[in-house]
Amino acid sequence: MSKLLIQGGKTLSGTVRISGAKNSAVAIIAACILFRGETILENVPKISDVQILLHIMEQLGAKIHWLNEESVSIEVPDQIEYSARYEEVRSLRASNLLLGSLLGRCGKAEVALPGGCDLGPRPMDLHIKGFSKLGATVETKNDYIQAKADHLTGAFIYLDFPSVGATENIMMAAAMAEGLTTIENVAKEPEIVDLANLLNSAGAKVRGAGTDIIKIEGVPELRTPHHTIIPDRIEAGTFLAAAAMTGSNLKLENVISAHLNPVIAKMRESGVIVRPNGSDIYVKGPNELKAVNVKTLAHPGFPTDMQPQIMSMLTIANGTSTIVENLFEERMKAAPELCKMGADITINGNIATVHGVKKLHGASVMAKDLRAGAALVIAALAAEGETEINGLTVIDRGYYQMEEKLAQLGATVRRVD
Ligand code: UD1
Repeated sequence: MSKLLIQGGKTLSGTVRISGAKNSAVAIIAACILFRGETILENVPKISDVQILLHIMEQLGAKIHWLNEESVSIEVPDQIEYSARYEEVRSLRASNLLLGSLLGRCGKAEVALPGGCDLGPRPMDLHIKGFSKLGATVETKNDYIQAKADHLTGAFIYLDFPSVGATENIMMAAAMAEGLTTIENVAKEPEIVDLANLLNSAGAKVRGAGTDIIKIEGVPELRTPHHTIIPDRIEAGTFLAAAAMTGSNLKLENVISAHLNPVIAKMRESGVIVRPNGSDIYVKGPNELKAVNVKTLAHPGFPTDMQPQIMSMLTIANGTSTIVENLFEERMKAAPELCKMGADITINGNIATVHGVKKLHGASVMAKDLRAGAALVIAALAAEGETEINGLTVIDRGYYQMEEKLAQLGATVRRVD
């Protein structure tokens, strides 16, 4: 199993280019099922989640061709399979997004119950309710979700919670349904807007993405779009936290700073200097971080995908911080590993109390999920001595060339296979 060895305690400097957004890329790749012919996607992060999803698309009959390191051509033939097999789907939560696009395109879909990061229970009830409202019959059988409909018809759908995946899945299924679909209490994440932009550039009629209500007027056919995926706000946030913890001066390129507002607000409260400038962000870590309180919420609240990284940052802040995790039950897995590095964190249900310490020290730790792994990487950069981070495959799911990017900034980091 691969591990990362990081010699900490160094200040970083220079420029880092942020890759395309993982969560946009997976939704947008799944949406390509809806388009007959060749779609070109730019700014695609070549991370393992994306590669696995592209492989599943190939198994469904699509032709995949990387045009360069970050552009991919996806050609979907007239006839495609509607069943995504168990083995690959199990390792990727986002494969559930194939349900909406397959249902929209083929009128039937069969996708194994998805895997991905173990963040606690991740039900699919909102997705299923949405498909049913559009006229599909949905069943869960032998670890597969099966959906079928002779005819999808627009409907009014209210989501009990603004779920990102359910919003995306219903948008895709509704894009070619007959008539108007109105979805209320939808997710407002930038990735939803990116998906709506892709669908609209293919000829769909999606209005309201980024607000609480999305309206979709179904169309009989969609064209093949050419689309550039938005930058990854979570990767950018992770580098902001790395700069903050190591007292470094960094420039982040290829960012949309407005997508990072909730993260930037907390960074500034903690004493970090953050200066957005066009598609760049300049960040300067302070001599001493201040404790802050954080609550994760659906967008535009503080993103749960940045919670482990800010927890890591606050381990060396002056004072006591409280972190409340409101989205996922098992999202505090970085805490015990950070404690091995000298952090002082107490967990009580979904609340973490972080008492800042002067310094972290190197240790042998395990990346238990994607963002917990990122939290350990940035902690290791700030820690005294060497940290060994095991379980790298989870970090590779969502960060493109993490160690190369860090090495370019002056970090002493080495992958050992
Ligand atoms: C997406 C992101 C993930 C991020 C999460 C929350 C992708 C590929 N992943 O995941 O990185 O952490 O949004 O911002 O985009 N829920 C239900 N029933 C459902 C669906 C969700 O109860 O049918 C609940 C979940 O248990 C969770 C909350 O809604 O508590 C948010 O989940 P959701 O927004 O659906 O997350 P994902 O789309 O899985």
